[in-house]
Amino acid sequence: MHSMKPFVNPKFVKPLVFMACLLPLVFGIQAGFTDQLGANPIEEITHRTGDWTLRLLLITLAATPLRRLFGWGWPLRVRRMLGLFTFFYACLHLLTYLVLDQFFDWEDILKDIIKRPYITIGFGAFVLLVPLAVTSTNAMMRRLGKRWGQLHQLIYVIAVFGILHYLWLVKADYLLPLIHAAILLTLLLVRAWYQRQSLSAGRPAPQTS
Ligand code: HEM
Repeated sequence: MHSMKPFVNPKFVKPLVFMACLLPLVFGIQAGFTDQLGANPIEEITHRTGDWTLRLLLITLAATPLRRLFGWGWPLRVRRMLGLFTFFYACLHLLTYLVLDQFFDWEDILKDIIKRPYITIGFGAFVLLVPLAVTSTNAMMRRLGKRWGQLHQLIYVIAVFGILHYLWLVKADYLLPLIHAAILLTLLLVRAWYQRQSLSAGRPAPQTS
C-alpha cells in the first residue's frame, strides 16, 4: 500500500488542492483581460466553466477508488472541497448562461429548459447539486446521520446527467464526452467491484459516498 506522505506534507495537501482548483478561474480571468477568449467570449466562458464542473465532479468521484486501489487517504480528506468547487464552477456556468448568454430573459430561459433536452438535463444536474452543497457541512452530516450518505448518492445521478448534457449538446465530435463517460464508467465499476468483494467476504458494504 503506497501513501503520498513521501511527496507532500499532509498539512499542505488542502491548501495546494484549493489553489489548484482556483487555477481555471485565474486563467479564465487572465484570458479575459488579455483578450484570449476568442471570437465568442461568452461561448468560451460557458465551455470552460462547463468543462471544469464535469472534470471536478469526476475528480471528486475518484476519491474513494483511489483510496481502495492505492490506499491513498488524502483524496478523501479533500473530497468535500472538490465537491464544493464542482458546485462553484457549476454556479459560474449557470450564471454565464443566465446573465451573459440570456441577459435574464426568463421567458427564453424557461423555453430553453423545457424545449432543449441538453439544457433540461443540465438544469436537472444543477438542481441536484444544490442540496449536496447545502448539506456539505459537518453540522449537516451530524444532523442528517444515515440520510446524509443516502442523499449524497445523488452524485452518481448528477454525473450521468452531466455526461448526457455534454453528449446531447455536441453537434459532431463525440470524442470528449465519450472519454468523460468512459472515466465515469471506470470509476463506477471500481466501486461496484469493491462493493461486491466486501459483500462476498461477508463484510458490510463499504461506505460508498
Ligand atoms: C442550469 C444548468 C446548466 C445550463 C443552463 C447549461 C448550459 C450549457 C450551455 C448553453 C452550454 C454550451 C452549449 C454549446 O456550446 O452549444 C453548456 C456546455 C457544457 N456544460 Fe452546461 N449547463 C448547465 C449545467 C451543467 C452542469 C451541471 C454540468 C456538469 C455536470 C455542465 C457541463 C457542461 C459541459 C461539459 C459543457 C460543454 C463544454 C464544451 O463544449 O467544452 N453543464 N452548458
